Amino acid sequence: MEEPLTIEGAELEVRTLGPCRIDSPLLPLLGERPTTQHYIDEGDKVLLDDTLTMISSRKVPLDELPGFEPAGPRRKIYFDPSKTRVGIVTCGGLCPGLNNVIRGLVLELTNHYGVNRIFGFRHGYQGFIAKYGHSVVDLTPERVAHIDEDGGTILGTSRGQQDPDEIVDCLSRMNINILFVIGGDGTLRGARAISRVVAERGEKIAVVGIPKTIDNDIPYIDQSFGFQTAFAKAAESIRAASAEATSAPGGVGIVRLMGRHSGFIACYATLAKSDADVVLIPELPFTLEGERGLLTYLRHRVEKRGHAVVVVAEGAGQDLVTGLPESSDASGNRKLFDIGPELSRRITDHFAEHGTELNLKYIDPSYHIRSVQANPYDNVYTIRLAHAAVHAAMSGRTEMVVGRWRRRFIHMPIALAVSHRNQVDPAGDLWMSVLEATGQPYRFG
Ligand code: F6P
Repeated sequence: MEEPLTIEGAELEVRTLGPCRIDSPLLPLLGERPTTQHYIDEGDKVLLDDTLTMISSRKVPLDELPGFEPAGPRRKIYFDPSKTRVGIVTCGGLCPGLNNVIRGLVLELTNHYGVNRIFGFRHGYQGFIAKYGHSVVDLTPERVAHIDEDGGTILGTSRGQQDPDEIVDCLSRMNINILFVIGGDGTLRGARAISRVVAERGEKIAVVGIPKTIDNDIPYIDQSFGFQTAFAKAAESIRAASAEATSAPGGVGIVRLMGRHSGFIACYATLAKSDADVVLIPELPFTLEGERGLLTYLRHRVEKRGHAVVVVAEGAGQDLVTGLPESSDASGNRKLFDIGPELSRRITDHFAEHGTELNLKYIDPSYHIRSVQANPYDNVYTIRLAHAAVHAAMSGRTEMVVGRWRRRFIHMPIALAVSHRNQVDPAGDLWMSVLEATGQPYRFG
């Protein structure tokens, strides 16, 4: 038997519940189209690699190159829409576009597939567990018509896992055929556990994820939904910090942004508003003290130009304070110490030691940027992801997420989506652009 193709130890092939025997109601829209730059035939695949060097280093024949199954409507589907019952759940921290995804799923399911029993489970995985007593929400086109005008999620959310057996019990009791899970890596691990229980029990429930991460830390999806809205908002804080810093003698603005392990928001917000002098991200440890340390650099900058702006991602500089007690949040994420106030204190002390005037203003827009309404780009992106997720689920695909890779919409097994974290590559183009925009050294220390 041929070995399945794997990347990062995870298979690229998406699991299906069984053969598709039902004509898709979308058939009249499909026609016969060849793969072009704007369309991919369902039998084609989207290559993982996009440079000659990467492709040739695989040393495999063309048809064995690793690639993803394209997303999109299938001509034949697995579920009979008139008998299909669907569940939707949102989990983890907020992210712009959650309501848009819910709305996109409901409208596509009802308007195009004719599915009209859609239930929203409340407050993440808690919504399936009897002891929490959360009722389900009937999701109809009328109910979701304008929810995209608000941030947050109409279903509510929560962090943390629940027993996958109990979740599948609930799905079976309610005769749910398809479960859409909108959440980050912990949530997707939960979704994989649910699909495993479904498979062990021999049930036919499709579990399809729409990856959600404000930190943009899920691999192989180019950029996560809501990310663009988030960094655009964050850029406003950088502008504010810059206005404050340039308006006072010795003005220093510090903007502390989310980004537990990945500094994408910090990098993109900085590039969106080129007012920052220094960006600090979790991927690049830095030194505070010494001639090549951050503090001296910042002081010289202020002495020379009169002001400076520092953008710091929450996970940056975690090695600067040691000996703190370890604890985790409900998602199992290690609780971080707050780098922002620590940085402010160290800058204040350093400037005082050197007799340099300092007017420090500290801005933390973290929860503001992730709770706002999605911007037009994310409106488009979320609706297209929702469409892709519905097509995938109706065709019986399971244990997978939808994503966008190299600008094409794709299907990816959950195992791959949680195989590692997407991080800013200090040797990559993005970090180089940040260095060019800020003028800061490659690293401090
Ligand atoms: O999980 C993404 C994230 O935005 C992190 O960057 C941040 O640490 C965390 O959520 C905070 O969320 P909450 O305070 O809701 O747990």
